[in-house]
Amino acid sequence: MRPRGRPANRESAERPELVLAGRAWYHGRLQAIELGIDEAGRICTIGRDRRGARRHDVGDRVLLPSASDLHVHLREPGPPDAGETIATGTVAAAVGGVGLVGEMPNTDPPVTSVDRLEAKAARVQGRAAVDVLLYAAAQENGPLAPLARGAGGFKLYMSPTPGIAAGPEGPALARLLEELARFDLPLAVHAEDPGRFVGARPPVDPVGWDRARPAAAESAAIDHLLGAPDLLRLHVAHVTSAAAAARLRARGVSCEVTPHHLLLAARRGADARFKVNPPLRSESERAALWARFASGDIACVASDHAPHSVASKSEPFARAPSGVPGVETMLPLLLARVGSGALALPVLLRAACDRPARILGQPVGRLAVGHRANLLVVDFRARTPVRADRLRSGCGWSPFEGMAATFPTEHWRDGRRIVQDGEYVGVPDGAVVRPEYAPGETAPRPRDDGRR
Ligand code: DOR
Ligand code: ZN
Repeated sequence: MRPRGRPANRESAERPELVLAGRAWYHGRLQAIELGIDEAGRICTIGRDRRGARRHDVGDRVLLPSASDLHVHLREPGPPDAGETIATGTVAAAVGGVGLVGEMPNTDPPVTSVDRLEAKAARVQGRAAVDVLLYAAAQENGPLAPLARGAGGFKLYMSPTPGIAAGPEGPALARLLEELARFDLPLAVHAEDPGRFVGARPPVDPVGWDRARPAAAESAAIDHLLGAPDLLRLHVAHVTSAAAAARLRARGVSCEVTPHHLLLAARRGADARFKVNPPLRSESERAALWARFASGDIACVASDHAPHSVASKSEPFARAPSGVPGVETMLPLLLARVGSGALALPVLLRAACDRPARILGQPVGRLAVGHRANLLVVDFRARTPVRADRLRSGCGWSPFEGMAATFPTEHWRDGRRIVQDGEYVGVPDGAVVRPEYAPGETAPRPRDDGRR
């Protein structure tokens, strides 16, 4: 068992077993750094010359904390032709620089009972390349208290989603949020109000899909959430509009944006590969979302990795399922933007590494003594186009085909290398993790201010 516990805020007495030397973003600048890693796989020293310990020097390449992806669908358990498994999806995560995934409950069957939660946890053991936090479904009349004892978080769907019923509305929603506030767990919400969907013509392309499920549906759903109790660790998933993100930030509620809403717009005539919920928006809305993200005002980026098979996404638009894969390309696409100067490295580090880890209560995501040595090595000069046939996800396609990406060359997990030269070389010892919030983050808990 890997030792766990809170990160210490002082230098641990242990001698480093290993020193990783390179450059890192530390104390506000990119600088040469040495990270000492102890026997337990934790960062125990920063910035000291430790001769004697085993040393791995990555030269002028950059050492970064691994990312945490708040939102993936690994489809297990699921039908045999599902495009993904815990094994394939977590190797994809590892190669893409993601050391922890938040796995959503709309599997087949959905995680609505303790038995199902335990069955899913059992599937993670010995098969996951990275750590997995399991969300349970937040449903009216569901066994919330027993689920809260084992789950890493709750997920609430406000609109019908494949494999899971939509949550309640009106006073019943308010009661559910009150009840969920009793548990010290994050609540991620899929915020679309189906009452605002427009059913005139069946959509035949992403532009029609955007009209059918407009940003107004997202905005209305957020209205329903803003009365939630202050103690609730509320987090709004895949926000698609800059205005919605601004509103949440003003209210101190954390949210995430996805790489597809940041980088892809709805194009007339595009096929069902670009069908996703919530929909891709117009180019002007996409550009506004990117600008807000790049300014550092959006708390998190998360992939909403939804690895539907090529066959199902080749169906006519109206019949094809919604969702795009992304856990493997999320960080590489954004690292390439950092390399080209379009995105500041500290903005990306906060959104992809630090804040998601804080939301999930994990001692990762920063270069800090006591944190797990879950680290990446990145060469910002290395840019390659995304090619689906080189990706590890089981689904075999990507909506980002051809876009520039910077894949980490190495990924270290608890001080051991699991990716080398971009190839997965680890053993599947990923664990099921649950939040452990640091003492400063106990009640009354201010919601994420979007900046930390
Ligand atoms: O497009 C989507 N696909 N949005 C969701 O919320 C669920 C996801 C899926 O599970 O396929
Ligand atoms: Zn999702």
